[in-house]
Amino acid sequence: MKRLGILLSGRGSNFEAIADQVAAGQIDAEIAVVISSRPEARGLEVARRRGLKTLCIPSKGMDREAYDALLIHELRDHAVDLVCLAGFMRLLSASFVRAFPERILNIHPSLLPAFPGLDAQKQALEHGVKISGCTVHLVDEFLDAGPIVLQAAVPVRDDDTVESLSARILVEEHRIYSAAIRIVLGGQFHIEGRRLIAHPRAV
Ligand code: GRF
Repeated sequence: MKRLGILLSGRGSNFEAIADQVAAGQIDAEIAVVISSRPEARGLEVARRRGLKTLCIPSKGMDREAYDALLIHELRDHAVDLVCLAGFMRLLSASFVRAFPERILNIHPSLLPAFPGLDAQKQALEHGVKISGCTVHLVDEFLDAGPIVLQAAVPVRDDDTVESLSARILVEEHRIYSAAIRIVLGGQFHIEGRRLIAHPRAV
């Protein structure tokens, strides 16, 4: 059975959606460990309540390399096959990325490469785009930048607020994150340049 490591810093709704899919047998894996960079993260409490192995490794004030070395140690200790960033509010170092080649996923609430970084939904609204969405991508050492696994689009309505747009995007986030995990976990893809090509039976 493949083993997932979840890294989060906050609410944890993407983590919950993944955990639901795992529990329903829709993802052929188990959640080996949930690690939070913040002690007050709601996602940490949710994971505890679900009886999952949790760790809190506070990142505040820590040097990136030292912090990432701790993460690598714990993820290896729990024999994690795939690392899923689920609202994890830290940029990972090149050494972390090298430790899990093509085995780190992130979800971002925009159609990358538009609106990387913080407050993506607010950026999209302020820019005036008519369509936004979300992206699951492999993680490299650059922000919101690795090969794209899946994207989903949603309309931006004239009366949208950041909250209403974020809620519409979040529904799609919860759907495509698990689908992307299935593709990557099965190794049913190859990469050509920046393009991640999922093999037909994986989709
Ligand atoms: C999501 O919008 C995700 O795309 C972004 O951070 C947010 C995390 O939400 N990376 P949650 O903690 O999964 O509820």
